[in-house]
Amino acid sequence: MIVGNWKMHGDGAWLDRVAAIAGAVAVPQIDVALCVPATLIHRAATIAPGLTIGAQDCHWAATGAHTGAISAMMLREAGAQVMILGHSERRAAGDDDAHVAAKVAAAQNAGLRVILCVGESAAERDDGAATARVRAQLIASLPERLTAGLTIAYEPIWAIGRGVIPSPVEITSVVDGIRSVLTARNVANARVLYGGSVTAAATRDLLARTDIDGLLVGAASLKPATFSEIIGAAIGLTNLDRPKPRL
Ligand code: PGA
Repeated sequence: MIVGNWKMHGDGAWLDRVAAIAGAVAVPQIDVALCVPATLIHRAATIAPGLTIGAQDCHWAATGAHTGAISAMMLREAGAQVMILGHSERRAAGDDDAHVAAKVAAAQNAGLRVILCVGESAAERDDGAATARVRAQLIASLPERLTAGLTIAYEPIWAIGRGVIPSPVEITSVVDGIRSVLTARNVANARVLYGGSVTAAATRDLLARTDIDGLLVGAASLKPATFSEIIGAAIGLTNLDRPKPRL
């Protein structure tokens, strides 16, 4: 699975980019989603029906007096099929683990596929606590009741937008920790993605040398040419022997 996260980038003029990306994913063997700003969801879903369009956050309540907020069901009605939740930029803006868990429940109740982000800070990694931190964050960010269609994105905070990527060994250690939490929660068939400074050049190595099931891509998803290159590299690897997830 390859997911683009446009963050707070894009207006109506960017629908051309949505169409270009949709053209690059007309291949059945790979799941590609593009998470655009809320204002673009309806138009993007309308012009690119073959592309999975996603949102980047929601409120945890279904409706109510929450000025300025948007519910998961509203985003789904606009055309979103997936939802990024718990991104470190949202956590830095005030979402704690309990908020994230409530949002995951709301999105799943609305029928959206959730991409739940977890990741350690530079200080936590330096302390040798990366895997423990991510496991604890994931445990606390999962609601009591989970439905199918869960994807976890491992996004070390120190790697986002910094041009640095952890080594395959570092990724594998944390991803193993994530999978152990999922196994303990009886979550079958959850995907685990990596995100943080993913480039077209790094894609092949990341997908070939680690047991991740895909990538969450920020800056490199903004340009159709780069994002298409990443998608193309992922398609090229789908038939190769990769280490099997240990769920
Ligand atoms: P980046 O962002 O690829 O620009 O590092 C990834 C993310 O924040 O999801």
